[in-house]
Amino acid sequence: MNHLTMIENTLKNYCETLPNSALKSAIQHALLHGGKRLRPRLFLTALEDYGYSIEPYMKLAASIEMIHTYSLIHDDLPAMDDDDLRRGKPTVHKVFGEATAILAGDALLTDAFRLIGETDALNDQAKVAIIKVFSHAAGALGMVYGQWLDFDSEGKHITYDTLEKIHCNKTARLIEAPLVAAAHIVNPKDAVHWQTIGEKLGLVFQVQDDILEATSSETSMGKSLSDTRHKKSTVVTLLGLDKAKNLANELFETVRRTLACIDGSHEVLMQLIKTIENRKQ
Ligand code: IPE
Ligand code: IPE
Ligand code: MG
Ligand code: MG
Repeated sequence: MNHLTMIENTLKNYCETLPNSALKSAIQHALLHGGKRLRPRLFLTALEDYGYSIEPYMKLAASIEMIHTYSLIHDDLPAMDDDDLRRGKPTVHKVFGEATAILAGDALLTDAFRLIGETDALNDQAKVAIIKVFSHAAGALGMVYGQWLDFDSEGKHITYDTLEKIHCNKTARLIEAPLVAAAHIVNPKDAVHWQTIGEKLGLVFQVQDDILEATSSETSMGKSLSDTRHKKSTVVTLLGLDKAKNLANELFETVRRTLACIDGSHEVLMQLIKTIENRKQ
């Protein structure tokens, strides 16, 4: 079975354990179908890169996708980006109302940590290490801080350094975390390299998002494109399209160079990075 199918099945199984309710339907609406599953795929690919069998770690893989999906539900809320389209469907609050959308996000974030606890392949020490990595990446030291900085910068002139700080926190931390988690399972000494790879990959992922926001459409992205409406600075508005594309190339180069510092051929991971490089969504 390929990674995507395994991830979809694990997320579906999680949803099936929930009591029947509009809350469950909202969680299914947000979580199932449509996401690229980049973060769990990075985790599983890194683990396999080390020769590990991934089956025992599927709940952990699902947990990072659940944290990411929670961040998207809340990001789309009227008080935040106020967007109507996500993963090719109406946003959760549009279908289920704001209160249920907020609670669906709360449930996904909390249950993500339950699934880490239920990952029997991890000993207690590894569980604590990974809980630290994920909570650091998701909370006020990571994604939530980046989201706040992003919101606070709307309509203001900001420097590129400030924009990079926003991107590092709101996007890169949750891309870094699954790679660092894989290192914690296999070889904690490699964590520092995975951290750099994840940070640069996260930054370039957001640079691509800004480029796509300027050059693509809501239909092909499957989500609302609302940066202009919110007067947000992006890599494209600050540097221009050509420099943004050059920056993306440089960041991908740094990712490949850092990957070479870790033993192994990394063939599958290189393929996944290539897929990200060519993404249109
Ligand atoms: C969207 O992330 C939010 C950003 C950090 C740019 P993805 O592009 O990974 O969204 P899904 O999971 O595929 O919907
Ligand atoms: C997404 O930020 C990062 C999150 C933490 C959810 P954006 O608001 O820039 O991403 P999209 O365009 O809504 O996916
Ligand atoms: Mg946002
Ligand atoms: Mg948004």
